[in-house]
Amino acid sequence: MRKIQIATSVTVFNNLSELSTEDKMLMDKAIEARKKAYAPYSKFNVGAALLLENNEIVTGNNQENAAYPSGMCAERVAIWKAGSDFPNVKILKLAISASSSISKVDKPVGPCGACRQSLSEYEIKQKQHFPVIFMGEVGEIIKTESLDALLPFSFDSSYL
Ligand code: THU
Repeated sequence: MRKIQIATSVTVFNNLSELSTEDKMLMDKAIEARKKAYAPYSKFNVGAALLLENNEIVTGNNQENAAYPSGMCAERVAIWKAGSDFPNVKILKLAISASSSISKVDKPVGPCGACRQSLSEYEIKQKQHFPVIFMGEVGEIIKTESLDALLPFSFDSSYL
């Protein structure tokens, strides 16, 4: 028997002004996208923005449906848009912001488990990690250096 320890380290920023110019610009795009989310059922709006190696910015937001499971998260809308429109262009970073019309979201909102798995596919595909920066509407912002850090023991094609 043996035990292994898995450690993740993240950087915590107090507010947007502490981010680098590029990270702040990308987070602004995620916030812009968040404001266009279609979330009439949960009232929880999420925006995601991906910076690509060719300098394109691909955004997405959550799209809900009256048949609840048919909706989709912002992160997957964005990553699939990028995978569809720019299949061979590397993703350099991802920013995410979430807000709610029910209560102020003041904690960083990380991608859900299913989104982590979907995002992980693209990190593996491009053989290059990409940082994920996430926040609520206000408050602290978290930056991880890779998607891998958010999803240890992820499922990948090597198991198939
Ligand atoms: N949502 C996202 O867009 N991303 C996540 O990572 C978590 C949840 C959306 C899905 C749904 O429209 C709403 O937030 C509430 O769960």
